[in-house]
Amino acid sequence: NWKMDSFIEKSVNDINRQVGNGRVVCGLSGGVDSAVTAALIHKAIGNRLSCIFVDNGLLRNFEAEEVVKTFKENFSADLHVVRAQDRFLGKLKGVSDPEKKRKIIGHEFIKVFKNEAQKISDVQFLAQGTLYPDVIESIPAHGGPTVTIKSHHNVGGLPEELGFELVEPLRFLFKDEVRKIGEELGLPKELVGRHPFPGPGLAIRIIGEISGQRLEVLRKADKIVIEEICKAGLYNKIAQCFAVLLPLSTVGVMGDERSYENVIAVRAVETTDFMTADWYRIPNETLGSISHRIINEVKGVNRVVYDISTKPPSTIEWE
Ligand code: XMP
Repeated sequence: NWKMDSFIEKSVNDINRQVGNGRVVCGLSGGVDSAVTAALIHKAIGNRLSCIFVDNGLLRNFEAEEVVKTFKENFSADLHVVRAQDRFLGKLKGVSDPEKKRKIIGHEFIKVFKNEAQKISDVQFLAQGTLYPDVIESIPAHGGPTVTIKSHHNVGGLPEELGFELVEPLRFLFKDEVRKIGEELGLPKELVGRHPFPGPGLAIRIIGEISGQRLEVLRKADKIVIEEICKAGLYNKIAQCFAVLLPLSTVGVMGDERSYENVIAVRAVETTDFMTADWYRIPNETLGSISHRIINEVKGVNRVVYDISTKPPSTIEWE
């Protein structure tokens, strides 16, 4: 694809021009944007790139392990893995307000990242996978204040805190273009085609307070949702699909016994820009196997519901 090839070539030149002989640090999230950013920078400056991956304890099943494995298989760059699960979960204890969760996670991320980045000597640049829609969303309309529906705190504040110059090779691209570049750069298909995952992770998919036990339940349910969607050949047709834990108790029967347990909501959306979205019509048969498996395999859940709301007025995430 000549258009993507020429983008890569131009981008590599731009990075070299901006960075010179300097060193760059890049945060990896496990998603497409940060991986493509890292791959472009790696192509430009090789081992003068260091990557930092923070395991905040809010990732999906085995996600942290997969990120590390994929990285090692695809890059020769320096990778720092910070296991900070306890720190994040400790700070989130007793917190149920969604915006408070985001702020705490954002703050903690900056602290952990900064601490790790300072261990790497001679860094002057910070690479971020900012996309064009992120750029436009942060420009206030008519010069007025931006209305915060949900604060996307995972990146804000980091460059200022570190005093690094920003490198943002994707800032004029949309998600589908980033995916094409990722493919062109030879990144694995599963990584390039991954559904977006929010910075605050599973914390905003557990309504209310977060606990280790709730995270376990949600991870198991989420894994089943994704497995069944893949089995039905739908993963690449759906823009984003996941489970949400509703920690309210409802009555059920298990064998001869009455149960009183939690609800899992299944959310699947169709969208190109994530600003508006329609709920995806998952075939009944697949919904049936998702529900059957979750109720039978995940202890602590006795009911599964399907979210049939469009954005707007609902949002994609529940918090
Ligand atoms: P909503 O729920 O606002 O989501 O319709 C739109 C898209 O943004 C993602 N999202 C986030 N991503 N930090 C992120 O990095 C956040 O705090 C956050 N909140 C929502 C969401 O997953 C969807 O793709």
